Amino acid sequence: MPQASALSVPHLLGIKDLTAEDIRLILHTAATFKEVINRPIKKVPSLRDLTVANLFFEDSTRTRVSFELAEKRLSADIVNFSASSSSVKKGETLLDTVHNILSMKVDMIVMRHPAPGAPHFLAGRIPASIINAGDGTHEHPTQALLDAYSMQEQLGNLEGKKIAIFGDILHSRVALSNILCLRKLGAQVRVCGPPTLIPKYISSLGVEVSFNVEQSLRWCDIANILRIQLERQDIRYFPSLREYALYFGINKAMLDRIDKRIVIMHPGPINRGVEVTSEVADSEHSIILQQVENGVAVRMAVLYLLAGNR
Ligand code: CP
Repeated sequence: MPQASALSVPHLLGIKDLTAEDIRLILHTAATFKEVINRPIKKVPSLRDLTVANLFFEDSTRTRVSFELAEKRLSADIVNFSASSSSVKKGETLLDTVHNILSMKVDMIVMRHPAPGAPHFLAGRIPASIINAGDGTHEHPTQALLDAYSMQEQLGNLEGKKIAIFGDILHSRVALSNILCLRKLGAQVRVCGPPTLIPKYISSLGVEVSFNVEQSLRWCDIANILRIQLERQDIRYFPSLREYALYFGINKAMLDRIDKRIVIMHPGPINRGVEVTSEVADSEHSIILQQVENGVAVRMAVLYLLAGNR
């Protein structure tokens, strides 16, 4: 199939808006940038004339550092904004904040926000490209893209491959973006967790549902384990973390009982000893730090392709 040369969208708001060709183009471009960032000189001049603002209204370690490194590797000018030390605390609106930042000749916005739909709200109201770095419980598109890239490194073409997503599906923006991305790439997807943490609509996205962790591990080629998002849980969805770990946590004994290699992934941050034991997270099955490494190349690809669409 011939490779598309430009994205079909002016922003990256969610995987929902991308075509399969867009996703393949991003992953293909990321492979080129992965080669660049492994050279002794890790920088290219592609975004030399661009200024990118990283607006983080919610905490982040991986996504924030990864975007900043991606922008620096592409030679962009960068401004970092943290809501906790800004005039948002004095009551300034999101739109006013962004209009003020853009008036200082900023070309592109990377934004993480706790409100689902916040980047979509901005997209129709400002003249700059926006990249969604996570909007509440809605989408986290660059995480899904770096996950798909990492999966392809392990399995090649994902068509027909079996990917199981374990844990707190209900509160996870990573789960929705992963499901949309993997289905567009032709993978088989299963979600597994306690019934209270699996949304009722999930089958309509073309995924299987299971409540049996060990059986789902046997089924899959890759296990993508998600964090229990206690900060988003307004009621109790399971009796205690200890019981969650006992019935839905993934441990080494389970992997040892399965006679094939399963790749273990986790978007981070990890609740060690809850959704996964340290023994598994740090084992030869795990590609968790490779995911983080790939995040820089994938975000370089997204920034580069969106800049080309301006
Ligand atoms: N995976 C992820 O989004 O991690 P951070 O919240 O640390 O950015």
